[in-house]
Amino acid sequence: MNTEISKAAVDALVKNKNLTDGEFKALLQTGEFDGYLFECADKVRREHYGDEVYIRGLIEISNYCKNNCYYCGIRAGNGNAERYRLTKDDILSCAKEGYRLGFRTFVLQGGEDMFFTDEVICDIVSGIKKEYPDCAVTLSLGEKSFDSYKKYYDAGADRYLLRHETANNEHYSKLHPESMSLENRKQCLYNLKKIGYQTGSGFMVGSPYQTYETLIEDLRFLQDLKPDMIGIGPYITHKDTPFKNFESGSLCLTLRLVAILRLMFPYVLLPSTTALGTIHPQGREMGLKAGANVVMPNLSPTSVRKLYTLYDNKICTGDEAAQCIECLKRRVESAGYRIVTDVGNVKK
Ligand code: 5AD
Ligand code: FES
Repeated sequence: MNTEISKAAVDALVKNKNLTDGEFKALLQTGEFDGYLFECADKVRREHYGDEVYIRGLIEISNYCKNNCYYCGIRAGNGNAERYRLTKDDILSCAKEGYRLGFRTFVLQGGEDMFFTDEVICDIVSGIKKEYPDCAVTLSLGEKSFDSYKKYYDAGADRYLLRHETANNEHYSKLHPESMSLENRKQCLYNLKKIGYQTGSGFMVGSPYQTYETLIEDLRFLQDLKPDMIGIGPYITHKDTPFKNFESGSLCLTLRLVAILRLMFPYVLLPSTTALGTIHPQGREMGLKAGANVVMPNLSPTSVRKLYTLYDNKICTGDEAAQCIECLKRRVESAGYRIVTDVGNVKK
């Protein structure tokens, strides 16, 4: 029964039709048509982006965070985390090396670190844009006010990543302390879009208390938001969090969701995430073959790589940026695609 529904559901998605909750559920539950699903997703991806894979240089600027998300290794309450923050000079030298290696997008990611005031952030953003006007700057620094987002945008930031994590209120409150709300998270995302950012959202697959129903709510929320970028990856346990006894998310379900998202949002920028590469040695290659078209190698200084641990066993924490990109080039090619030097804007 589910099997028939899920094959028909893939065909419906390819034709750009909306699915019922029942159809989504059948699709999420059934692995039998994964091959077909991935093939369709890859076809759609190639129609929009050919075999090109965009690279984003990830610079992890700080692991200080005022928040206490129960799943996250850099939560304020983790007394075992050794904290660091990069200076503007550190960040600019990461960008310099990145530019040399062919990166044309820099993603500044960090915890919600109050040291990075609006002024400091704007100064860094405009510094990068001045030096590299042909590059995009993406920020991933959490929840801020409309005014702060607007200031960063006016300073030159082009894109913003803020995963909604889950679109179900009850689930959201099981993943976060009371000080955080889904409502505010969603408001931030709508504000970012309104300001003019290319906006990214997303969620973890297999986070504690997630169900097929909450996943369907995630898909519905994304249909409403219409983001330019969608980041998903498996939830991976971190030993120093309240969720340390929960299992990590599954590779298969993550890949299935990558493919579903590609079919639902043909134009979307969809990374094959480090978390995917962490739960399986070929996870990122599989993500690309299931419809992903972006990879985000780490450009952070090697001295701090190991400290930015959102989850256990994160890969790529030992290698120099240049080694990382070489390794990724080979991986991307082995999957049948190629890395390009391009700012990599969304093709809507
Ligand atoms: N496992 C997987 N992903 C995680 N993130 C945070 N903690 C974890 C974890 N334990 C993700 C969140 C966040 C992004 C930066 O990293 O989705 O938005
Ligand atoms: Fe830093 Fe959640 S612990 S944003």
